[in-house]
Amino acid sequence: MKNLVVYYSLSGNTEVVAQEIAKLIEGDLKRIECIKEPGFVWAALSAILGIKGKIKPLDFSVEEYDNVFVGGPVWAAKSCTPINTFLDKTDFKNKNVYIFLTQSDEKTPSTVFDSMKSRIQSDGGNIVDCFFVQTQMKSVISVDTIKRPITDWIDKFKVNLFN
Ligand SMILES: Cc1cc2nc3c(=O)[nH]c(=O)nc-3n(C[C@H](O)[C@H](O)[C@H](O)COP(=O)(O)O)c2cc1C
Repeated sequence: MKNLVVYYSLSGNTEVVAQEIAKLIEGDLKRIECIKEPGFVWAALSAILGIKGKIKPLDFSVEEYDNVFVGGPVWAAKSCTPINTFLDKTDFKNKNVYIFLTQSDEKTPSTVFDSMKSRIQSDGGNIVDCFFVQTQMKSVISVDTIKRPITDWIDKFKVNLFN
């Protein structure tokens, strides 16, 4: 099984989570980058409007992988715009897909999960599970804080990632 972790992160939180996941699943780690990183207001507005942000060309193909972990921050109770672009560009046919999000709210971001799920499923992806980490806007989350919840999450299906 070949495992991929692909993520977008504006201020570093999702990156910390993505790095930890990649380590645990022995996966390749790929960062989605914007052509121009947005400021707060445009990020929020563009997410509300469902805009697909311009991203740099990807140097990998999801096609090479069996299991794909896709993660990003919640913006204005929506998926962030670089992730919108990535989902739009990607064919998930026959891929097992795991979604992870970071956000400052403690409440499960169900509507964001649902909207990402439906786009991935309509592209043929099989959603296995969703997970989120609560972060703080003022500082980047520490690895120590997230180690245990992420390990517990991965342990639920780890056996399927290595056979
Ligand atoms: C433009 C913008 C909008 C945000 N909107 C929300 C939101 O609606 N709900 C929430 O819980 N957190 C919200 N946040 C907080 C981020 O989701 C949170 O800080 C996240 O961990 C940032 O991830 P990153 O550091 O990987 O960019 C928002 C942050 C930004 C920059």
